Amino acid sequence: TTITWDPEMAEKGGYEHFMIKEIYEEPQVIKDTLSEAEKIKEIVSKFKNFNRICFVACGTSYHASLIGEYLIESQIGIPTEVILASEFEYFQKTLDKHTLVIFITQSGETADTIKALKIAKKKSETLAIVNVVGSSITREADHVIYTRAGPEISVAATKTYISQLICIYLLVAYLGENEKLLDNLYKISRLSEKILSREEQIREIAKKYKFARDFFYIGRGFNYPTALEGALKLKEITYIHGEGYPAGELKHGPLALIEDNIPVVGILPPGPSYRKTYNNLQEIKARGADMIILGANNDTHLDDIEDKLLFDPEIDEVLSPLLYIIDLQLLAYYISIEKGIDPDKPKNLAKSVTVE
Ligand code: G6P
Repeated sequence: TTITWDPEMAEKGGYEHFMIKEIYEEPQVIKDTLSEAEKIKEIVSKFKNFNRICFVACGTSYHASLIGEYLIESQIGIPTEVILASEFEYFQKTLDKHTLVIFITQSGETADTIKALKIAKKKSETLAIVNVVGSSITREADHVIYTRAGPEISVAATKTYISQLICIYLLVAYLGENEKLLDNLYKISRLSEKILSREEQIREIAKKYKFARDFFYIGRGFNYPTALEGALKLKEITYIHGEGYPAGELKHGPLALIEDNIPVVGILPPGPSYRKTYNNLQEIKARGADMIILGANNDTHLDDIEDKLLFDPEIDEVLSPLLYIIDLQLLAYYISIEKGIDPDKPKNLAKSVTVE
């Protein structure tokens, strides 16, 4: 007998694609990144005086940065902004020594981000949050935090996004001396495992909507970036047009596009923004859209919703970005599979973009 040995299959550890393997690694990645907590605490203690934070990133790392902005503004109250790396050069005039500039990049090799770091370091203190050890960015920044997600092969970022978020939450917990936020982070790794057990349900939703031409992803506050990231995953690996939108902004344009049976993903965790988001989603539903709702499993308002992905109500809106996105990664993955696309190698895209 001969044993056929497929090295690529072996690397995938029995999974059909790197993307799904990497999604399944997320609970472990959360633990591994949390084990960096002490190092992050130490870096925070070394920061010089700053009164403004500026995040710089591209793609999925940009969406992680946006969540950082919501967290810092709401939990600590330091003025924060997020600038796309490719647009950074148009904003350099206001940088000074009281600005902390945080660069987020999985690869540490994105040309636009490297260029922005070179500009920023002339005037400001810089921190890089990076996955690839020893990458170009790590040699330029004043401080480096590693995300510890392990190598990510699939072009669409999944586990590295989760690990970037864990680093940001840790950073915010230490900057704001927020013990409660820190405790909650340790709950997250346990709760993340539950989500991965509903693959079948997500597969069914994927089958139902695989022929859709457009998708909307709607969220408010902390989950506006989740909506953007969910839509980005869809675009990258299914080639379906997906648009992430802030719930309250729909009435200023996109409502005109809502028609019968258009799939709309609504992100509706418990918390202070619940009521308003719920009302916004009702308006979409009334116009005939097919709703896919992500919310709490004790939310009785969702009883008549056919497609819903439910979470522990302990995951409130502050923590929800860490876990709700996992379902949206899985949804994009299964739609891609249903359409016969290789999710690991989407057309026209590269894992790391080294041109400006
Ligand atoms: C490329 C990848 C994306 C990634 C983006 C930023 O477009 O396909 O998955 O989010 O670059 O990459 P970085 O390595 O800087 O996080």
